[in-house]
Amino acid sequence: MERVILDVDTGLDDAVALLLAAGLEEIQIEGIIATNGNVEVAKTLENTLNIAEVASLTCPVFKGADKPFSREPIAAGDFHGESGLDGPVFAPRMRQQVQSENGIDALIRMLNENPGQISVVSVGPLTDLALAIQKQQDILSLAKQVVIMGGSFSGGNVTSEAEFNTYGDPEAAQIVFSSKANLVLFPLDCTHQVTLSPEQLAGYGKINRECAKVFTACMKTYAEKYSNHGKGWPQLHDPQCIAYLIDPEKVTTRYERVQVVTEQGPTYGKTIASATEEKDGVHVAYGIDSAWFWTLVDRALSVLP
Ligand code: RIB
Ligand code: CA
Repeated sequence: MERVILDVDTGLDDAVALLLAAGLEEIQIEGIIATNGNVEVAKTLENTLNIAEVASLTCPVFKGADKPFSREPIAAGDFHGESGLDGPVFAPRMRQQVQSENGIDALIRMLNENPGQISVVSVGPLTDLALAIQKQQDILSLAKQVVIMGGSFSGGNVTSEAEFNTYGDPEAAQIVFSSKANLVLFPLDCTHQVTLSPEQLAGYGKINRECAKVFTACMKTYAEKYSNHGKGWPQLHDPQCIAYLIDPEKVTTRYERVQVVTEQGPTYGKTIASATEEKDGVHVAYGIDSAWFWTLVDRALSVLP
């Protein structure tokens, strides 16, 4: 059983990561932290609670950071919609509500209580993880592994150089990438290899299950936004971090030092990889078995409510 804490800025592909984690029997979600990112944290929290409810999750949901470490907040509503999760319509929640404990404190508590046993998956700006390090320097080293979606070594998606999650909080990303924890990074170089097709979307639309309907509504919005931006069909960035937990052998990685540009200017938030012989690096993903990835989505949506 892979025990996991999810740190999300629930937007449309974060929602797929949540549904994948909820639907795969190999994964036990210990907690979910909603953070500022694609949209403001009030909205990412609402979106996260709604997905947790529809997936019948019983794990605690916490509120994370409401602003980046030091820069001004940015948002990606133009790819995820005004709500951050445009498309699905959710019934009033009967169960899920946010915990009173702050998400960063909960992360620190759960990792201290379970040293080496829980993986952390972070698929938004890395503010929460950096704040946790600020409170306890070695905290991420108590995680079994930290799997992150972010960065790019072949051009950005929010500026020409920077990917959204690292651009959303470069200072936090630099703190995390230099933490010497067991880090796995999924940059755009890998995540752009998994793209939803019109045929797949049509197929998922025929599944008469609530979560599959939510998935389909999310992906219809995502497809529309990608098309409006002339970016082709949607890329499923975040859920690849969940797939990695199921079988790391299906992902090709290289161990490299990763640094983030934190100086203001055209490369602000850019990630730079370099060879290292030390234990100061990150397992960077450069390839994934895309067909295998989709079998996981099929399996999860076939068992979720
Ligand atoms: O660049 C892709 C990342 O930015 C994904 O995590 C997506 O959800 C957005 O947050
Ligand atoms: Ca995200």
